Amino acid sequence: MKPTFHQLRIFRTVAEETSYTKAAKRLHLSQPAVSMQVKQLEEAVGMPLLEQIGKKLFLTEAGEILSACAADIAERMQQTSEMIAQLQGVQRGNLKISVATTASYFVINIIKKFSEMYPQININLDVTNRSSLIEQLANNDRDIIIMGEPPQTLDLIARPFMDNPLVMITAIDNPLTKRKKLKIEELRNQTFVIRESGSGTRAAIERVFEKAGVDIHSTIEMSSNEAIKQAVQAGLGLAIVSRHTVKLELDTGNLATLNVSNFPIMRKWYLVHPAGKTLSPLAKLFESFVTEYKNEVFDEH
Ligand code: PGA
Repeated sequence: MKPTFHQLRIFRTVAEETSYTKAAKRLHLSQPAVSMQVKQLEEAVGMPLLEQIGKKLFLTEAGEILSACAADIAERMQQTSEMIAQLQGVQRGNLKISVATTASYFVINIIKKFSEMYPQININLDVTNRSSLIEQLANNDRDIIIMGEPPQTLDLIARPFMDNPLVMITAIDNPLTKRKKLKIEELRNQTFVIRESGSGTRAAIERVFEKAGVDIHSTIEMSSNEAIKQAVQAGLGLAIVSRHTVKLELDTGNLATLNVSNFPIMRKWYLVHPAGKTLSPLAKLFESFVTEYKNEVFDEH
C-alpha cells in the first residue's frame, strides 16, 4: 500500500464533504480528477473506501480508518511545518538584551556560547543598573532583561534561574579576616565602598543594614563593580558585592571575604519581560538557552 500525500489529502476532503463535487470545488480541481485520485487510492489500498447508496456517499470501514490516518498525518505535517518555520525564524535576526551591571560578569559567557551556536543572530547588549532596567521594562523596549529583583510595581513575568549571593569583601591584610565570626553591628564604624543609588546590589545591602538596625557611618560611592574591587584591594574600606564579580580575585587571593552573620545575602537572578509582551521566537530561544546552559557556562561559586 503506497498512497501519496496528494491522494490522502483529496480523499480526506471527499470524506469530510461526503461529495466528490464539493471536494473538487474546495480543492480547486475538476470532479473527474478527484474521482480518479480516490480510485487510484482504493487500488493502492486494495479495498473500496467509499460507497454510494442512493444519492449519498458513505465511508466504508477501511475508508473510516484511512480517513482518520489522513487527518493525523495532516495534523503532524502542520505541526512540523510550524516547527520548521520557527526554526528558520530563530536562526537569524536581532536580539536586544539588557542586564544589570553586576550580571554582565556571567552574561558575557552565555552570550559567547549562544553566538557560537547561532552565529547569524545579532545581539545588542545594554549593561546598566537596576533603575534603568525598570524604566526599560516600563517602556517595553527590550526583548529580554536579566536583573536581580523584579519590581513589584510593574506587571511582569519573572523567572528566577540562578542564585546571586552577596559577600562582604576586604583587602587581604585586614585584621578582620582573622575573625571567625563577625556580627554586622561590629562593622558600624567601618568605611564601606558602595554602589550608586539605583543599583540593585545597593538596595539589597541597605535593607540588610536597616533590618539589623545598623547605621553605616562612612561610605564612599562608586558606580562600577570594578572600581569598588580596586578600592577595596587598595584598602579604602569594605564592600558588599555579588560573588559573581569577585570570583577571580577570591581564587587568586587578591581579595578576601569576611565571615559576617547573615552573610552571604542570598538573592536570585531573574529573566524578566512585561506580562503582556509576546516574546519573539528568538527571545524564547535565548530564555531557554540561559536556563538550559547556565550550569555549563556560569560559575556559581
Ligand atoms: P546592580 O545589579 O547592582 O548592578 O544594579 C542588579 C541587582 O543585583 O539587583
